[in-house]
Amino acid sequence: MTLEALPSHASVRANPASVASSPPPPPLPARAYTDEELYRKVLERVFFRSWLYACHASFLEGAGRYKVVELLGESLLLVRDQSNVLHAFYNVCQHRGHRIASDEGNATRFVCPYHAWCYDLQGRLKSAPGTKGVRGFDKDKVHLARVRVEEFLGFVFVNFDRQAASMEQTYPNLAATLERLCPDIAARYFAFEHSAQEESNWLVAVENYNECYHCQHVHKAFSQGIVVPESYDVQPLGCDARVLHHSAKAATGEGSWYDTSRSDYASFFLYPGFSFQLYPSGLLNTYYWRPLSVSTTRVHRGWFSHDGSVSAELEDVIERDRTTTFAEDLELVKSVQRGLESRSFEQAQLVVSTQGGVKSEHSLACLHRWLREDVAETGL
Ligand code: FES
Ligand SMILES: [Fe+2]
Repeated sequence: MTLEALPSHASVRANPASVASSPPPPPLPARAYTDEELYRKVLERVFFRSWLYACHASFLEGAGRYKVVELLGESLLLVRDQSNVLHAFYNVCQHRGHRIASDEGNATRFVCPYHAWCYDLQGRLKSAPGTKGVRGFDKDKVHLARVRVEEFLGFVFVNFDRQAASMEQTYPNLAATLERLCPDIAARYFAFEHSAQEESNWLVAVENYNECYHCQHVHKAFSQGIVVPESYDVQPLGCDARVLHHSAKAATGEGSWYDTSRSDYASFFLYPGFSFQLYPSGLLNTYYWRPLSVSTTRVHRGWFSHDGSVSAELEDVIERDRTTTFAEDLELVKSVQRGLESRSFEQAQLVVSTQGGVKSEHSLACLHRWLREDVAETGL
């Protein structure tokens, strides 16, 4: 893998009215992380209306290429048609509900394994055995149900909300910012991914991700190998986007994992559950979180190289990260979830400094504000 030089992220424009300077909202009650009914409301109001990462476009290269993705209890069929247009459908046959496809591969059509209804790559029903003489049956009116899909710099996002604003409208200026910091981002290939079940609510997991207050105490390797913790800050990217921009100076001491002479650290968290990370030296990697239940979440860690290969250098980084930062966070969120479920615990207290910086949790106040906006009717 060739590591390209990156421009400094110092010129990324954070929200001029830094979140640290506005008074923090009241803390969230413990039930925000533990209540089953509220969790279901959040799934409906937040996740089923947000852009969610499905997979990298390198899985969908070429006409007829398809991939099945499981997301929020739904099975989705992503396929590129003969004109290279990418479609996302519910993987549900319109006859009696059997799954149309599994795993991934190449197809010219999809034949349901149950009664052999056949769909083209645009989701149209092309044939259905025995239906010719059936009164009122019009196969031209039968179509796989669609989900919104967009390719965003080579990353495929879906949205269950057919009325949702585009990715660019939802996350304004994000694409341009990422392309400036990582000019070849759209040409990268998926290289490797691992995942784990977190024993916590999704919000515990993404809160943990969006503050580095705990880094120096817990993430020794990250604090020596990737960033200078004192320089870490998290601020919204612009006024309108629900994006948190993490920035830090690259660690250059003896414990550094890279040649860090060429860039700083940056990451971009897209509410509610995805993050692009640009490690010093230009290594592109991602996190994403998928809620499984009120108290469990699947966290995925992805890595992207120039040709899809995992070099010895990249393998070393993946393994170091997996056994340190990634593993350490699994323990943290598990412990926090237990605490939140304790009958003694009513609400958290955020440490919010008007100066911002690594020891301030202003970024969590931001997450809480967005969540409250989405589920306003719950009185959270
Ligand atoms: S359920 Fe698909 S053909 Fe019957
Ligand atoms: Fe952490």
